[in-house]
Amino acid sequence: MNKRFVSVAVLAAAISTPTVAQMSVEDQIETRQAAYQFASWNMGKIKAQTVDGSAAFDQNQVAAAAKAIAAVANSGMSVLYSRDSANDRAENTRLKPNFFEEPMKVQEIAVSFVREANALQELAAAGDQAAIARQFAKVGETCKACHDNFRAK
Ligand code: HEC
Repeated sequence: MNKRFVSVAVLAAAISTPTVAQMSVEDQIETRQAAYQFASWNMGKIKAQTVDGSAAFDQNQVAAAAKAIAAVANSGMSVLYSRDSANDRAENTRLKPNFFEEPMKVQEIAVSFVREANALQELAAAGDQAAIARQFAKVGETCKACHDNFRAK
């Protein structure tokens, strides 16, 4: 391979990584809020179809919704959380500053969010409505754990 090409590719990779970290605080806040809103919309579809029974169970829809939630969980959202984006320093956010004082707790919740969302995706693809409903509740617990600890009222 051409040496010059390699160095340009390496340079491009080196430049492209920090751009993620350099997202403005405003963009971090908007992006994470949008991601959670999107996850919430998809959680609502699964709830309606498997828990409440207020909408007919459509396995394709439920599987797609679970996939979308897992995608949010696995998307590497931690880069959207800079210290300056907490509600003691930034506007229009409910992120509490203790998020940055309790990294072990954040980590534990984030890991369980990913694990339970991945499990929901698998069960939704398999299609057992009762099993999906049970796993939906487990995912919901991880959402709630994070909100109870780190999201202002
Ligand atoms: C790792 C912690 C964490 C997890 C896990 C989490 N959230 Fe949140 N969520 C937050 C924080 C923090 C905010 C506030 C964000 C802000 O205002 O900047 C938030 C905000 C929201 C919002 C409001 C968004 C807006 O428009 O302001 C909704 C809706 C929401 N979360 C739903 C969910 C759902 C549903 C799940 C699970 C499928 C979930 N969240 C999982 C931490 C989390």
